[in-house]
Amino acid sequence: MANKKNWKFSTKAIHVGNEADTESGSVSPPIHLTSTFKQDAVGKTRGFDYSRVSNPTRQRLEKNLAALDNAKHAICYSTGMAATTALFQLFDAGDHILISRNTYGGTYRMAMNVLQRQGMEFEWIDTRDPVNVEKHIRPNTKLVHVETPTNPLLELCNLEATSVICKKAGVYLSVDNSFMSPYGQRPLDLGVDVVMQSSTKSLSGHSDILGGVLTTNDDDLDERLRFLLKATGAVPSPFDNWILLRSTKTLGLRYQKSTDNAAELATWLCKQKGLDRVLYPGLNSHPQHEIAVKQQRSPSGDVIFGHMISIDIGSIDARDRFLERLEVFTLAESLGGVESLVCVPYNMTHAAIPVDVKLEMGITETLIRLSIGIEDVADLKDDLQNALGN
Ligand SMILES: Cc1ncc(COP(=O)(O)O)c(C=O)c1O
Repeated sequence: MANKKNWKFSTKAIHVGNEADTESGSVSPPIHLTSTFKQDAVGKTRGFDYSRVSNPTRQRLEKNLAALDNAKHAICYSTGMAATTALFQLFDAGDHILISRNTYGGTYRMAMNVLQRQGMEFEWIDTRDPVNVEKHIRPNTKLVHVETPTNPLLELCNLEATSVICKKAGVYLSVDNSFMSPYGQRPLDLGVDVVMQSSTKSLSGHSDILGGVLTTNDDDLDERLRFLLKATGAVPSPFDNWILLRSTKTLGLRYQKSTDNAAELATWLCKQKGLDRVLYPGLNSHPQHEIAVKQQRSPSGDVIFGHMISIDIGSIDARDRFLERLEVFTLAESLGGVESLVCVPYNMTHAAIPVDVKLEMGITETLIRLSIGIEDVADLKDDLQNALGN
């Protein structure tokens, strides 16, 4: 039998965790819709006792997601926010956490309104320059949590350089990799300690479930995170686990197609009238294009710029006209689905962030975020052209 360790990305996505059922031989694995498990005698289980602790469908999914990130461990949650909360709950009152300044608005809401109230300290900094990260590390700093590319300004963090700084300071480094997925970026290979993903996005890819996952190679972190999950209970349902296990089989195909579409559209958008800014890591005009080339790579080594584009349309009237005219793109929060979505981060995904903080970062009322799907690119182009009125 071929050595599974040498399997390439899509072979792992399709086979790891998807082994045929040993009882019936069903090729598609069963869903274990059960809360509890029969014990053969007191304390004598067959590996499972209660589904909050573990469940065979979740165990299959965790094997699959760990393999995709080249990780030893994966721990699955009911949502991406539950995963980020668990990650931060590894630390205590008085501990200090540094976070990229324009992360997903929900991360800001949870940190500032929940955990900060309980005594943890959070500081939002520009993580584009590793030296700036180093400058902000204090004696009580325990974690640096970055997004790269950030949401929605698509700022990048040099993961290898930042991980060297964190290791030297004895601080953990974690990455929200929801925008890239393991197909486009595998941060553990670049020295990062924990990868967080909202599996609601590209991992599931059909806008039909919520989920979150943390992956790590650190046995101690894995043990502490599993204890926290058992203690606090934000586990995903067996049904959602099964849907996600099925969805990752096509992650490579979906991510490649959406990224190809986005690259073509970003270049085309730069030539359109009426746009003040086009932000996309694949453009030579992106100030950190070279970092994208270095660290955003498909499993076979090709450069992957991702499926997210942000544009600034200049005025609220123009914004509303654009949104009204779109027919293929749907106005909705979220990203990473097969269908193209559009949103206004200022009012939608980043509503929880104070206005002055948003404006200082450049998240204006006229900034529009596009999540490019896998439709035919000609139709997407027509839709955008029609909406722009060009
Ligand atoms: C980058 C990023 N991280 C985390 C989350 C939170 O994930 P969830 O909605 O699954 O809780 C989101 C949601 O939009 C996101 O865009």
